[in-house]
Amino acid sequence: MTGQDPTSAVQIDTTRPHPARMYDWYLGGKDNYPVDEAMGRQMLTLDPRVPVMARVNRAFMHRATRWLAGSGVRQFLDIGTGIPTEPNLHQIAQETAPGARVVYCDNDPIVLAHAAALLRGTDEGATEYLQADVRDPDAILEGARKVLDLTRPVALSLVALLHFVPDEDGAHDLVRRLLAELPSGSHLVMTHATADFTPEESKAATEKLRAAGVTLALRSREEFTRFFDGLDLVEPGVEVPHRWHPELGEPVPGQDDGVIPGYGAVGRKP
Ligand SMILES: C[S@@+](CC[C@H](N)C(=O)[O-])C[C@H]1O[C@@H](n2cnc3c(N)ncnc32)[C@H](O)[C@@H]1O
Repeated sequence: MTGQDPTSAVQIDTTRPHPARMYDWYLGGKDNYPVDEAMGRQMLTLDPRVPVMARVNRAFMHRATRWLAGSGVRQFLDIGTGIPTEPNLHQIAQETAPGARVVYCDNDPIVLAHAAALLRGTDEGATEYLQADVRDPDAILEGARKVLDLTRPVALSLVALLHFVPDEDGAHDLVRRLLAELPSGSHLVMTHATADFTPEESKAATEKLRAAGVTLALRSREEFTRFFDGLDLVEPGVEVPHRWHPELGEPVPGQDDGVIPGYGAVGRKP
């Protein structure tokens, strides 16, 4: 692959915005296209804090992974991984536990194009990338089994993913199905956007994205909390992401204690 454009081998649709590429643009990455930037800029007119929100979300993933690795979790299944952005989940997990095994999964071809960066981990550990859709949990579980021992605890992370999966696609059932295959001691890690704090801006954002072909399924605190039914929520429970274990990372520049319109939580399967 050296010297080759990694995107040359896969089909990238540059005619409409994609969530992975818009998120990359918010994070200051280079793996996005004018159509993603244009939609990103429209989102900024609704709420200029969107890039801070993206960083706050990413920082939650870092802290949650640190917390899990520090609690003894050694296997991670991360669905909706996004375009690689350092540090990636395996780098954080393997910092604490060099033998950590990580399976990444996304349905966007641009993530596949850049997946090589997700596969450079420790010699003791393992990383793998699956090109799959969260709406096909059986395919994900089948792929994950090749790298993870599903009789031992796994952290299932669905970070900033399920607000792209509407109720019609059975978002809550998909999570139940994935968790059903994981043993006691496994964890669910999630963040999710909500309209609870900024209903008007959220409605306008949902409409703009829908017009461009992107589904946004914002959920209330109650709907988010339902993903954790049957799990024991780790302290402090459901929170706005930057207030979840802030001591495990650095604050994000520009983050304040104002409301970031999303929720984050970690739950343990008893
Ligand atoms: C906002 S990014 C989040 C990236 C990363 N989890 C993080 O929080 O930093 C959402 C990711 O979910 C992926 N995604 C959206 N719908 C998906 C689906 N149905 N199946 C798998 N991945 C999906 C997108 O391609 C994108 O990479």
